Amino acid sequence: PRGTRRNDDGVVELGGVSVDQLATDYDTPLFVYDEADFRSRCADMQNAFGPYGRVHYASKAFLSTQVAKWIESEGLSLDVCSGGELAIALHAGFPAERIALHGNNKSEAELAAAVDAGVGDIVLDSMIEIERLDRIAGERGVVADVLVRITPGVEAHTHEFISTAHEDQKFGFALVGGVALDAVRAVFAAPNLRLVGLHSHIGSQIFEIDGFELAARRVIGLLADVVAEFGVEKTKQIKLLDLGGGLGISYLESETPPPVGVLAEALAEIVRRESAALNLPMPTIAVEPGRGIAGPAGVTLYRVGTIKDVALDGGTVRRYVSVDGGMSDNIRTVLYDAEYDVRLASRVSTAKAVVCRVVGKHCESGDIVIRDCWLPEDLAPGDILMVGATGAYCYSMSSRYNMAPRAAVVTVNEGRSRVMLRRETVEDFLSLEVDSE
Ligand code: LLP
Repeated sequence: PRGTRRNDDGVVELGGVSVDQLATDYDTPLFVYDEADFRSRCADMQNAFGPYGRVHYASKAFLSTQVAKWIESEGLSLDVCSGGELAIALHAGFPAERIALHGNNKSEAELAAAVDAGVGDIVLDSMIEIERLDRIAGERGVVADVLVRITPGVEAHTHEFISTAHEDQKFGFALVGGVALDAVRAVFAAPNLRLVGLHSHIGSQIFEIDGFELAARRVIGLLADVVAEFGVEKTKQIKLLDLGGGLGISYLESETPPPVGVLAEALAEIVRRESAALNLPMPTIAVEPGRGIAGPAGVTLYRVGTIKDVALDGGTVRRYVSVDGGMSDNIRTVLYDAEYDVRLASRVSTAKAVVCRVVGKHCESGDIVIRDCWLPEDLAPGDILMVGATGAYCYSMSSRYNMAPRAAVVTVNEGRSRVMLRRETVEDFLSLEVDSE
């Protein structure tokens, strides 16, 4: 996070609180979010895109009621993609009209909950869903504002599992073959739905802005088809172009993502020019960053437990450093070959650096937090390691594998810390057990 520094004793401080203090007060593994950093990234996004439309924080990256309150007070909107995320947002008092609901298989109950809560819009992903929501809204005597999710056929250069806009995947209506235009027709024909926008999301952890630009052009290309079939007046109701999330962050110091301001202006320019060519008013642009806000604002603290040198073929050794968490709190290394920066945070060492592999405590050899990194040779049990940029998709994808209690999540700000989500306990596990006797 911005403002992280070492104090005079060489201990890393986050938001003015030393990692020693955090580990003593809350134990490890521990997620720490720097509130000021999180808020400043909200503000950066808002400053970049606010003039052209609005910013939705993608809550799948990380959500708690506290985070929803930060998002609310920074003036952003919120994306949810499940009934669970919606429930947390509403519990936090987040205004329903600033919430959008996503998902490729929303249940009847999730759609009904969204309509009943009065969410701002619902992003539709299949023909079945168009019929389903039309019926649910009709039963309640309301007209639901909806977006149609388009698959613009853009190959985002990122990991296959998090790339979403090529044709052969589950999300959205393809532009090719007129599938997306069919969806627009179906929504126009549905009495209880109002088509207010088009949506596209090309993937995640993307560094090149040309993919976003191409997607924007293609989504507007669909607007051209809509104008041709339904005329300018009818098309004007589609006043929102939601271009999704996906802006990359730097996990390693060597990576430099494009500045959000540059992306915002590039997209606005395309949208302005191409909508004018269709005689349409400039649509509102929405974006949905998750990682770009939460990712760099959070870190994970682990304690080193054991250290082992394993002989490799050819006479070299690999140093395995085991920490007290692992794939249950960060599955991204195993799942996406993700890379992270790690450092010894509880002291300064002048020992020479050696190549290490940081592994977790779970019962499988794939349980790797960091495949290769440099750590001081005198690293010892009890030292605290800090893994950076774990604020997105780590806690939210955490598991209880091996009955590991989920880590606590704390926030730091101006020298103070407080618990956002407490650590799970064995009692939490037991509370789910239904004793059949
Ligand atoms: N909007 C939609 C419709 C999405 O599907 C996503 C992410 C976002 C916005 C936010 O994208 P972001 O700005 O955070 O890149 N678990 C993976 C990431 C999966 C992203 C899924 N959708 C990871 O850990 O990298």
